[in-house]
Amino acid sequence: MSRLAPRGAQISVLYSAKEIEARVRALAADIVRAIGSEPLIVPILKGSFIFAADLLRALHEAGAEPDMDFITLSSYGKGTRSLGEVTIMRDTEAAIAGRDVLIIDDILESGRTLAFAKDLMAARGAQRVMTCVLLDKPGKLAVDVKADFVGFECLDRFVVGYGMDVAHAYRQLPFVGYIER
Ligand code: IMP
Ligand code: MG
Repeated sequence: MSRLAPRGAQISVLYSAKEIEARVRALAADIVRAIGSEPLIVPILKGSFIFAADLLRALHEAGAEPDMDFITLSSYGKGTRSLGEVTIMRDTEAAIAGRDVLIIDDILESGRTLAFAKDLMAARGAQRVMTCVLLDKPGKLAVDVKADFVGFECLDRFVVGYGMDVAHAYRQLPFVGYIER
């Protein structure tokens, strides 16, 4: 299915709102089984904010009582190519030591963002660090990292929607899609 998105681009749907909803519910059940019912959820902003909000409510439905704090990391400038170096734009506030931490990100691509966040939480004394990504882009890893929970495999295309952007546009789309070339 193809939809005309704002700003004139033609966006093809990769994962619909319905597919995402069902997958998020299944992920929440897996997560509660693996990490227990009182994790500290740390979404990596900005791209994961819609996924994290849906997952948080699904975790509630699955019986969990998570805490949540946020970190803003950046490896992209305004473009669609990773700059390779991860920087903290805004840090967490919660105490990390002794917690079971679940890091949430939108996409695992080179792995640099997720590896950076995992190392950071471990260095701050987390009891356990697990990771969950909505999308995994296979064959793109530049560092040795693996997500414990994955929503979907991702095409080797630049995707937008459901919180994800290109140059700050298209986060509002309720589905994950890619821009037609
Ligand atoms: P990595 O550090 O190379 O694994 O890149 C992961 C980060 O790059 C994610 O947090 C995303 O925000 C961003 N990213 C990677 N691919 C895409 C994409 O196709 N669309 C939007 N953001 C992306
Ligand atoms: Mg990101």
